[in-house]
Amino acid sequence: MAYQRPKGTADILPGESEKWQYVEQTARDVFKAYQFKEIRTPMFENFDVFSRSVGDTSDIVTKEMYDFFDKGDRHIVLRPEGTAGVVRAYVENKLYGPEHQKPVKVYYMGPMFRYERPQSGRMREFHQLGVEAFGSESPAIDVETIAMALQLLKQFGLKDLKLVINTLGDLETRQAYRQALIDFLEPHFAELSADSKERLHKNPLRVLDSKDKHDQEIVKDAPSILDYLDETSTAHFTTVKQMLESLGIDYEIDANMVRGLDYYNHTIFEIMSNSKAFGGNYMTVCAGGRYNGLVSELGGPDAPGFGFGLGVERLLLIMAADEVPLPVDDQLDVYLVGIGAAAAPATLKLIQAIRGAGFSAERDYLDRKPKAQFKTANRLNAKVVITVGDSELAAKAANLKNMATGEETTVPFTEIESDFKAIFKTAVK
Ligand code: HAM
Repeated sequence: MAYQRPKGTADILPGESEKWQYVEQTARDVFKAYQFKEIRTPMFENFDVFSRSVGDTSDIVTKEMYDFFDKGDRHIVLRPEGTAGVVRAYVENKLYGPEHQKPVKVYYMGPMFRYERPQSGRMREFHQLGVEAFGSESPAIDVETIAMALQLLKQFGLKDLKLVINTLGDLETRQAYRQALIDFLEPHFAELSADSKERLHKNPLRVLDSKDKHDQEIVKDAPSILDYLDETSTAHFTTVKQMLESLGIDYEIDANMVRGLDYYNHTIFEIMSNSKAFGGNYMTVCAGGRYNGLVSELGGPDAPGFGFGLGVERLLLIMAADEVPLPVDDQLDVYLVGIGAAAAPATLKLIQAIRGAGFSAERDYLDRKPKAQFKTANRLNAKVVITVGDSELAAKAANLKNMATGEETTVPFTEIESDFKAIFKTAVK
């Protein structure tokens, strides 16, 4: 029988994994410039961590979680997103304590799991680069974190991005808006989708995020949250907009944008791309926002937070469709050609010395003829080919060829073993 990977998952094969490494390394460099430090949290958490934070009326919690009871009867979830687990870790490890520099800024990269209908850019196992900043209410955190996401995407060569922002205000704002939304939606109750009917009284903002086409028609005329912002919420949003403008960052405001997770308040944002990777439709590559009540919701102090998640699969799809060149190093330092069985012991010792000196090196393991070995050296893009045959064994010195210039030299085995760095430097100067 033929085994297949589970639906909605992918194998990242050699050739492709180099691109992932490049993306991850670039992200680490950018995160470092902004002083975010890496955090690694478990890939599974207790169910409550997500139901309390992402929201028990959200699609993620109601439909998309990979959850199960383990052998100890604990309700476990494969993480559908990164924020809740990081907040749980922040609280559990008391990262809010005085010994930690505030704001506490962390980043993570890794797999997330959602039981969604797979399509281009939508997987069941997917990967996020994410960041979270705790302990500051300053709108500068919102703006600089958004700017960091844009810088990262630009560094990856992405063009034609659209930044969409909105505010969900503070608790008072949302309470006032909630009622206005219910009053608006109630006369349409019969026409709403089953999900939206269910959510209307529990969490009417969810209706704005409905994927149902008819729901979307109805909410087009819904009241705007921007008309319900109280003074603090207005001030925060105004400053965010001013700061974005002062950095020359273009944005659109979508007053109906609420995001698919319940923990947000104040600024929320999405960075979208209409790359041909998505058939010209806008697809969100990176999204996030502020979540001032989440830390206390998960048992911590009243610490505010801001962060985003960036979808790596979507990023790579856009880079591939837009043919963004990746600086992937596909050169081999040394290929060692061994001729005849007698060369085997010397080949073994030499290649290990070369690798031990920090160079990439490959050889033949299939008893291939010299001609085939040279062919492989070319295919592997070797900078240098070292040959060991009968005459080299007799002289205890190998033939070394610079593949770019064709220049050949003879180097004693002992020198290769004791100081290959110097030999390589002279050979490829
Ligand atoms: P999210 O909007 O659910 O937010 O996901 C963030 C990004 O992850 C999306 O914009 C998308 O690029 C990618 N993504 C989500 N689902 C899938 C999927 N099924 N397949 C492929 N890519 C996907 C969050 O997860 C929040 N934790 C972001 C955040 C961090 N907010 C504050 N801090």
